[in-house]
Amino acid sequence: MTQAITRVLGISGSLRRDSFNTKLLAVAADGLPARVEYQRYEALRDIPPFNADDEGTPPAAVSHFRSLLDWADAVIIATPEYNASIPGQLKNAFDWASRPVTTAALRGLAVAVIGASTSSFGATWAQDQLRGSLGAAGARVVDLELAVAEVEDQLSDDGTFRDPQLLDQLTAILDALMAEADIAATERDASAPLGASR
Ligand SMILES: Cc1cc2nc3c(=O)[nH]c(=O)nc-3n(C[C@H](O)[C@H](O)[C@H](O)COP(=O)(O)O)c2cc1C
Repeated sequence: MTQAITRVLGISGSLRRDSFNTKLLAVAADGLPARVEYQRYEALRDIPPFNADDEGTPPAAVSHFRSLLDWADAVIIATPEYNASIPGQLKNAFDWASRPVTTAALRGLAVAVIGASTSSFGATWAQDQLRGSLGAAGARVVDLELAVAEVEDQLSDDGTFRDPQLLDQLTAILDALMAEADIAATERDASAPLGASR
């Protein structure tokens, strides 16, 4: 039996041109199975600050972001950590995606979070907080972490980790994300009206 295509959206939480997290995201994308159709969201900087007055009639950049989340069966996010927390631009984007509550793009979406930092902790607090925030918004969050500490020494230009255990952890996260996406698709199909397709 052939498996259906799984559409995965990759998001880097860093706007920096030479971002380690964008590099880490590329390594993750390379590790996805062949059945995946992958695209990277590259317009995070365009999303304006959240304003509840505009929830129902959002700015174009927000509609674009929401439409990509609607397209996706699964999302993988590589986040830096700023002052022991989620970078503001990333949190802001997901605040938009969490509203309106009943039709939010995030609801039921399979999501995995990984992260890298130049410190010895690997953005672990930012990841933890982001997982909590996404879960509160109704996403199906993979409860696994990949914390790439001292990333400038850990991740080489050709995308290999100095510590091979990190690759094993990444593989486990991608496997869990695919499994979560499959469960979400099954539940979506079961709740869809007869004859309806996504
Ligand atoms: C405003 C700011 C705050 C930071 N705070 C943290 C922090 O709390 N924890 C940490 O591990 N690294 C922190 N860093 C260092 C980042 O890990 C480092 O800049 C990293 O390269 C950012 O990710 P990027 O390469 O994907 O842009 C901070 C950097 C900035 C610019």
